[in-house]
Amino acid sequence: MIMAKDVALRFGKRTLFDNVNIKFTEGNCYGLIGANGSGKSTFLKVLSREIDTTSGDIITNNKERISTLKQDHNLYNDLKVIDVVIMGNSKLYEIMKKKEELYCKADFTDKDGILLGNLESEFAEMNGWQAESDAAILLVGLGVDISYHELLMKDVPNAIKVKVLLAQALFGNPDILLLDEPTNGLDIEAKMWLEEFLINFENTVIVVSHDRHFLNKVCTHIVDIDYERVTLFVGNYDFWRKSSELIQKQMKDSNAKKETKIKELQDFIARFSANASKSKQATSRKKVLEKIVLDDLKGSSRKYPYINFKEDKKLSKDVLTTKNLTISVNGVKVINNLNLNINNFDKIAFVGTNELAVTTLFKALVGEITPDSGEILWGASVNKSYFPKNHENEFKEDKRVLDWLINYSKIKEEQFVRGFLGRMLFSGEESLKSIKVLSGGEKVRCMLSKMMLSGANLLILDEPTNHLDIETITSLNTGLIEFDGVVLFRTHDHEFIQTLANRIIEFKEDGKYIDKMTTYDEYLEIKERL
Ligand SMILES: Nc1ncnc2c1ncn2[C@@H]1O[C@H](COP(=O)(O)OP(=O)(O)OP(=O)(O)O)[C@@H](O)[C@H]1O
Ligand SMILES: [Mg+2]
Repeated sequence: MIMAKDVALRFGKRTLFDNVNIKFTEGNCYGLIGANGSGKSTFLKVLSREIDTTSGDIITNNKERISTLKQDHNLYNDLKVIDVVIMGNSKLYEIMKKKEELYCKADFTDKDGILLGNLESEFAEMNGWQAESDAAILLVGLGVDISYHELLMKDVPNAIKVKVLLAQALFGNPDILLLDEPTNGLDIEAKMWLEEFLINFENTVIVVSHDRHFLNKVCTHIVDIDYERVTLFVGNYDFWRKSSELIQKQMKDSNAKKETKIKELQDFIARFSANASKSKQATSRKKVLEKIVLDDLKGSSRKYPYINFKEDKKLSKDVLTTKNLTISVNGVKVINNLNLNINNFDKIAFVGTNELAVTTLFKALVGEITPDSGEILWGASVNKSYFPKNHENEFKEDKRVLDWLINYSKIKEEQFVRGFLGRMLFSGEESLKSIKVLSGGEKVRCMLSKMMLSGANLLILDEPTNHLDIETITSLNTGLIEFDGVVLFRTHDHEFIQTLANRIIEFKEDGKYIDKMTTYDEYLEIKERL
């Protein structure tokens, strides 16, 4: 059990939420939803006591262990994969390390012997002897091959690090599991495995996600953060959507009825208050009028940014050709003899399970890595802009959002850039906060702003939809459909691909590829028949 009692949280003048009273109990999985920047990650940090509330309390049973999903992929660079998982249960890990230290001690005393005995019994009580095999089971379940388990974190690819951190959070049957966007960066098999794990998990789970399919699968409850309120609904995501729409509609209908009634009463009072024979009725109607209260129809923080890309100059016919392009990562060929000819009207979705191949190709196209062999030939008219999957490095400095973006704008006037930020939902004070405190989705909105200002005629986007709320995904989708230049992109959003792409490329595991001028749905049909 974990409970928020009269909790409020403010950053400076801004209230994220206020008056929150919620109890989370065993056996339930709570989906925490809300727009980008509404305060989901912050709420999880408040629950885990990583940050303090402005007022109010978080109440837990002292014996219960809270486990969280770490967000920093480079936190454990010098530790072994298997140890990072076991560290999920910090108490057990400490005992293990202390034991190792004592066993290695040269001047082992009687006192050490007693201490070791105590540690051993505590260790056994915690099922310590099973820790390694439990950790290995979680890793393998998530698709991390045994060959990785003894490697150092810094030597494994990012896609594996994501899974190790997830295994760490799940390790040792925590009482309360707090997961912030756990499906980001997971392949489809790992995602399905996680769904099963959470469905079968018997303790308390609170999970933040923008993935409606995932939320529908795993959640028994939905907790919605919108405009300073945190509201609990029983049921999954679809049920939340239907019932919240229904509540809004009922409130609107009831307000409309009340407004008609108010108008009638006001008319009566205006006509008859001066009339002696009717003044009594007018007075009683005044009393009725005072009692009618309209329902508070608050706005929503779910808003659509205005995303559009305008190229400074048109692309000529000659865009991009690759000749016999081959690229290896850690000695394995991920791109194998790629011969592409890109037209100036192409919007290409890179699909399939081989994410590494796509990220590698994108990096090679922007010159971040050098191919083993082959050529990349760019047309003279091309002006490209790139959205890397991992863009954390952009946001390390303590800079205001406004200053960060001015840096990328040709027009340096503050007024212009502030206007631009406003349409990207950073209005007023929001554009003056530090880029360091931005939420995941806000960082993506910044990156997209930077690309919009670049005037590029060729956009390369590596999973831009990962952290975005549904409103921003829709705006980005429309913005790219209306864009006149070329788009090379990867996303997990089916509808996004279907409505945008006119060409599909899929890399196989051996680096070979399929390249078809078609829509996504047609491609999936063709593939069935292949
Ligand atoms: N230390 C801070 N000072 C000021 N503002 C902050 C601070 N930390 C977070 N914020 C702001 O609080 C808001 C909520 O951030 P949070 O990361 O909780 O959002 P979120 O709901 O998780 O969004 P997303 O879906 O994009 O991950 C954001 O607007 C963020 O910029
Ligand atoms: Mg967040």
